[in-house]
Amino acid sequence: MDDEKILNKLRELRAKDPDFSKGRVFSAVSSPPLEVALDAFKIFADTNALDEHLFSATGELERECISWLGNLLHNPKAAGYITTGGTEANMFALWAARESSKNKNEIIVPESAHYSIEKIARVMNLKINYTGLDENFRADVSEIESKINDKTLAVIATAGTPSLEMIDPVAKINELCDNIFLHVDAAFGGFVIPFLDRKIPFDFKLSNVSSITIDPHKMGLAPFPSGAVILRSSKLLKNLKILPPYLPIETYTLLGSRSGGAIASTWATFKSLGFAGYKKIVSGCMENTKFFCRELKVRGFELLTEPDLNCIGIKIDNEKIVKKLEYVGWKISMNHKPKSLRIVVMPHVNKEDILAFIDDMEKIAGVNK
Ligand SMILES: Cc1ncc(COP(=O)(O)O)c(C=O)c1O
Repeated sequence: MDDEKILNKLRELRAKDPDFSKGRVFSAVSSPPLEVALDAFKIFADTNALDEHLFSATGELERECISWLGNLLHNPKAAGYITTGGTEANMFALWAARESSKNKNEIIVPESAHYSIEKIARVMNLKINYTGLDENFRADVSEIESKINDKTLAVIATAGTPSLEMIDPVAKINELCDNIFLHVDAAFGGFVIPFLDRKIPFDFKLSNVSSITIDPHKMGLAPFPSGAVILRSSKLLKNLKILPPYLPIETYTLLGSRSGGAIASTWATFKSLGFAGYKKIVSGCMENTKFFCRELKVRGFELLTEPDLNCIGIKIDNEKIVKKLEYVGWKISMNHKPKSLRIVVMPHVNKEDILAFIDDMEKIAGVNK
């Protein structure tokens, strides 16, 4: 096949997947990346971050990304690396926890945590002690307290839960974790909470937070794949290092070969937007979320709870309604637990789309609300 044919075929296939620029994508936790990030990817597409001896500039870019994220999360001495996403970041954090406490194998996990934690527990043979939520779908702190025991390896808190993007009371959980590894999964919220006007403690400012997952490929607006795991201290890496028999340098990452393109595009996104750019984007998403909620209530729809971040759970448990909304072109998702319609108000969602969606909701769900 010649190049033009290959690209035409790909364009044809891509047209079958949703086009963010046409709005109507309310179920994604990603938005289109910046052009500069795509160009950056191409420049570093042939480098492998595994081998910093060979690709030292890629290593430099990665260290700058981690330092940028460390500053964002109030830890200028942060260690960590760019992962393929939140799943790998969560897994690395729990691996680091276990390597520093080998005789403990239980983790405490509020039931709103991302399902990757369950997969990781299975792979690592960890026992999960699930805990419940309060009436606003945030982790119930007293339940966590009651489950902590001598075998507790780690407690997981989530800053932006996958179903509703609620923020667990991390400051209160922090108080329970004096000698326990506290991992905060801020895969989504990590790029939102620091830019809100309201200050919500969730990061390394809290003394017992050991590690944080924060994903550039979600609200960080970097192209896939880009997650990050940030550790309080490089001391946590001590027991993880391995010297490959054919390389002159040690490595500690969960995966071997890693995309230099992903690192360069993440770096380019940070440089292009800066803290000020992210603040503007987050303000827009939060304003649209408030607008969305207000309009829904005016038209008689009920929310599951007031949103913490740019995600709304609408009290609709009838799957037929969701199917009909999908049929008229909306890309939405249904939470199984708590049953509800889930809307993520990402940067590509605008007020026009919101009003058009609510009009369709009224037509389709009006009698059921
Ligand atoms: C809170 C949270 N953690 C982890 C993940 C997993 O991230 P990934 O799909 O990038 O592996 C997600 C994905 O949505 C998430 O919302």
